[in-house]
Amino acid sequence: MNNTLIRNCIENNTTKIPIWLMRQAGRYLPEFRSIRKKNEDFIKLCLNKKLSSEITLQPLDRFNFDAAILFSDILLVPYALGQKVKFMKNYGPELGKLDINILNNISKQEFISTLNPVYESLKLVEKKLSKKNKDIIGFVGAPWTLLVYMLNRKSPKENNFNSIPKNKEVNILLEKVIEFLKIHIDAQIKNGATIIQIFDSWAGLLEEDDLEYFVYNPTQKLTNFIKEKSSTSICFPRNIKNYRKYVEKTKTDIISIDYNVDPNVIKHEIEIPIQGGLDPKILLEESKIVKKGVLKYLDAFKNNRYIFNLGHGVLPKTNPETVKYMVELVKDYK
Ligand code: CP3
Repeated sequence: MNNTLIRNCIENNTTKIPIWLMRQAGRYLPEFRSIRKKNEDFIKLCLNKKLSSEITLQPLDRFNFDAAILFSDILLVPYALGQKVKFMKNYGPELGKLDINILNNISKQEFISTLNPVYESLKLVEKKLSKKNKDIIGFVGAPWTLLVYMLNRKSPKENNFNSIPKNKEVNILLEKVIEFLKIHIDAQIKNGATIIQIFDSWAGLLEEDDLEYFVYNPTQKLTNFIKEKSSTSICFPRNIKNYRKYVEKTKTDIISIDYNVDPNVIKHEIEIPIQGGLDPKILLEESKIVKKGVLKYLDAFKNNRYIFNLGHGVLPKTNPETVKYMVELVKDYK
């Protein structure tokens, strides 16, 4: 098998810049919307191996992306741990009450059996991916971000989030989540994922003093585990203030940055490969502005190992033609 572009980038074997996008399979694609319309239950759709593998490959049929990211969701883990998860239109996810007794009684076997369609879908993606030199990205939510959803039961907004205490119950829950995330990561690697991205979407909610307990330490357990499995980790700690410290503490292989990070500052601070950054809102603008935005990142990271991506997921209003234009800009650079 040939090396993938991302592997070459990590090993510093190439000047070619790999590209893929967070939420590259999603509502900005009409072919996704047409499947979604007929499948109202989002969790069920994620657990339909035929459709989820098809959706995973949709963006690769259109664009010259270097990786597929599995069509799934970070909230399938709370779901498989016995918590109800619903996605409501224009509201986001809503979770049922967390029942520690149910959670404590779920065995590894039951958990794997609930999520088995996810692993079957990965196998299908691997089989159907005609170009073998592409990565398949599996993922998990970071322990902290999952804790936020499991306890807050919806996406946190300024006025609806109560901080989570560092008490015995929370500690037990945190350890449980880590244990099952390892199982989920392991199964994704065994079934075809070549990279695991850890999404810590709510890392930015924490004060510096709480990062060690909720973010650095739990995340390092996962990056370590990924290393033990000879796979590669990407971490995306959205809105965190000190990326350099995060990288030192978690020892991730690749760091994904959000759009508040100045590329011309971070490139001097971090030695590992950097991913992402561009504000997804830029893709709603005219081509001149898109070009300026894309070149800002390409120029800044000219002498770094860099994987092109956004600073958060593609927005549903994005025109697929703009995505195509952006991919061409990246592929034609230099
Ligand atoms: O990136 C990809 O293309 C892979 C699939 C993927 C989805 N969610 C599909 C999805 C991935 C990697 C995720 C991760 C995820 N899910 C995160 C971390 C990244 C981030 O956004 O910060 C989080 C916090 C979630 C939880 C979640 N799932 C929310 C808050 C929402 C609703 C808001 C929204 O954008 O719709 C979802 C739903 C979801 N997950 C959709 C998709 C394609 C939209 C569902 C729909 O069609 O209605």
